[in-house]
Amino acid sequence: MNLSQSADAQISTPLIDNFRADVLNGLKSSPKRLFSKYFYDKEGDQLFQQIMQMPEYYLTACELDVFRNRTGEIAEAVFYKDSAFDLIELGAGDGMKSVYLLQYLVERETDFTYIPVDISGNILSVLNEELQNKMPELKVVPLEGEYFSMLDKAAGLSVRRKVVFFLGGNIGNMEIGEANNFCREVRRRLNPGDLFVIGFDLMKNPHTVLNAYNDAAGITAAFNLNLLSRMNNELDADFNLDQFQHYQTYDPVSGACRSYLVSLTAQVVRIGDEEIAFGENELIDMEVSQKFSPGQIMEMAKSAGFQIRSQIADSKNWFVDSVWQV
Ligand code: AVI
Repeated sequence: MNLSQSADAQISTPLIDNFRADVLNGLKSSPKRLFSKYFYDKEGDQLFQQIMQMPEYYLTACELDVFRNRTGEIAEAVFYKDSAFDLIELGAGDGMKSVYLLQYLVERETDFTYIPVDISGNILSVLNEELQNKMPELKVVPLEGEYFSMLDKAAGLSVRRKVVFFLGGNIGNMEIGEANNFCREVRRRLNPGDLFVIGFDLMKNPHTVLNAYNDAAGITAAFNLNLLSRMNNELDADFNLDQFQHYQTYDPVSGACRSYLVSLTAQVVRIGDEEIAFGENELIDMEVSQKFSPGQIMEMAKSAGFQIRSQIADSKNWFVDSVWQV
């Protein structure tokens, strides 16, 4: 089955209502905050593609190193029972890393269906087209929407063993408590023997981390500011992007790397028929990109009810794909 047509559709009414409600709640809270999951409209997808190519942004290269050079080990961990399975990738994006594993499994005529899940219909249709061109024999069922509703939908598609991927360091875009709850929620939807494979960006030299989010070319700044443009386009807002500035921090003790937008003047911004006041230098908390210690990973797996099956790291030991089993 191929659902790419639905992925081509415009943002639907319930999704835009959620977006408006989240934005208004976030900007009326103190401190103000926005959710980074909304970074990814068409422009945001393109900016994120550019981020992944930046020399400073090591995460993609590290995880690519794992998937390209340790494909056999990942495949062995995933295909351990010799039984057919569904490979569900949460936040699949352009599928750049998993494609090595998909190719490896297809070449060995493994019986599996690839179910990429993403909130961006735009990126899903690009991915689907690429996969159809590269591997016409691969069964792909793209699902556009929020992770848990799509995980429930995927569970209804078959009774086969599930392997859930959550790569790219996406887990780091949640506060620690949220990440713990997220893992528990995934666990609740899985059965004994199912697997959860998570990509964790590890703590390392603080300069290396900070530079990855504070690039010289200003692409990360544009990525953050694009959310203001998106609100202008989709929520009838009137943000003046020149009046906001990107600011990045990294706390090597907690591992939290945070991005903010700073209001450069006292200003009032209209969003539809609501008005939001900003003080001079008032911050909007935009995103956390958490970096983890090996101990934190073990703790998270345990508290969500998983056992760690294997850990596959890149050659620099900067990033690890951790395979957890129910
Ligand atoms: C998608 N996510 C893992 C990225 C990260 O590293 O936190 C998003 C990002 N934000 C700024 N640069 C990249």
